[in-house]
Amino acid sequence: MPINRPLTNRPLANRPLTNRQWKLAQRPVGEISPTDLEFSEAPVPELAKGEVLIRNIYLSLDPTNRIWMSDMDQYMPPVEIGDVMRGGTLGVVEESRFKGLSPGDVVIPGLGNWQDYVIVPGEQANKVPTEFGIPLPAFMSAVGMTGATAYFGLMDIGKIKPGETVVITAAAGAVGSIAGQIAKIKGARVIGIAGTDEKCKWLTEELGFDGAINYKTEDLLPRLGELCPDGIDVDFENVGGATLDAILTLINNNARIALCGLISSYNATEPVPGPYMFQNILMHRAHVEGFIILDYLDRMPEALMALGTWVLEGRIKYKVDIQQGLENAPTALKRLFTGENTGKLLVQVSEEPEA
Ligand SMILES: NC(=O)c1ccc[n+]([C@@H]2O[C@H](COP(=O)([O-])OP(=O)(O)OC[C@H]3O[C@@H](n4cnc5c(N)ncnc54)[C@H](OP(=O)(O)O)[C@@H]3O)[C@@H](O)[C@H]2O)c1
Repeated sequence: MPINRPLTNRPLANRPLTNRQWKLAQRPVGEISPTDLEFSEAPVPELAKGEVLIRNIYLSLDPTNRIWMSDMDQYMPPVEIGDVMRGGTLGVVEESRFKGLSPGDVVIPGLGNWQDYVIVPGEQANKVPTEFGIPLPAFMSAVGMTGATAYFGLMDIGKIKPGETVVITAAAGAVGSIAGQIAKIKGARVIGIAGTDEKCKWLTEELGFDGAINYKTEDLLPRLGELCPDGIDVDFENVGGATLDAILTLINNNARIALCGLISSYNATEPVPGPYMFQNILMHRAHVEGFIILDYLDRMPEALMALGTWVLEGRIKYKVDIQQGLENAPTALKRLFTGENTGKLLVQVSEEPEA
């Protein structure tokens, strides 16, 4: 699909510049509906001293977008009705009034928005190291917040040790697919749970998982029992619900549950019951810990260095599902909840600068 806006990595001479934006029109009830977000346009203001104008190239779509649209108790303020939707972005500097950045620099401006352009203070925009030949989408997936989530979840919360059995849920997704490969690098036995045979095949045949279960067609608990004959030491949990219960049934003493996400409940309209097998946390002296990647920002260089090295060495592989056009962002977001995505879901907002 064509991207219907001018594309350039040169400074923009022609003001006024228009910003297409997705704003939250109402809080979704259940699945996101077409009227929950509104597409509108606004002029891009002039830059103040110290600011940079960034043209968004990639927009990250994440399950947490659904959380931010709601007013549930959450880890940061929800997006308010009428506000431009929040989202991670990677873009290129078009204009700069900040001496550390120049037009053409590729940057990640902290948390951005669902729009064509963003203006931020220059010191907030982190320059992307393009010199290693790593494709730009990788900085929004394996070598970005996604990979770092997998890294800290497994290392700090999961505390994995060689020889342990690790189960990864939503294993063919952005975080799960990286988490499973890190666990393999660290010498664990890794079983993934995913929603299609094709995803399971990718996990075992290309990513090196020791086993994979299609939770939609296989009987999860007995199959997990077969694939984890020595029980489960670490659960990298992305899903919750019945999947988590099956895992809790098989945990070993001193198991660790790295609670990364609970995607099976994000569209829930009624209160979601806690795990039925919660008692096993007690019986097996297990440790459950939720974590949010934003709490690890000061340790990001450690994760990105490790992940970048593994990607360059070919030890970590990744997939990106790139949907075209900002105008298609709300439709694309649904892919996370239907399981249509494999790997990291991105929207391409505009073209990459020429190398
Ligand atoms: N704690 C943090 O800081 C942090 C950061 C990033 C992400 N997360 C969490 O990590 C999880 C994965 O995020 P991601 O960005 O990597 O997304 P993702 O895994 O790429 O995409 C979501 C996947 O979840 C699966 N899914 C959707 N609905 C489901 C359901 N009802 N039951 C079981 N599986 C379902 C689908 O795969 P199947 O085909 O396998 O069903 C889908 O592809 C989410 O829970 C997210 O909230 C947490």
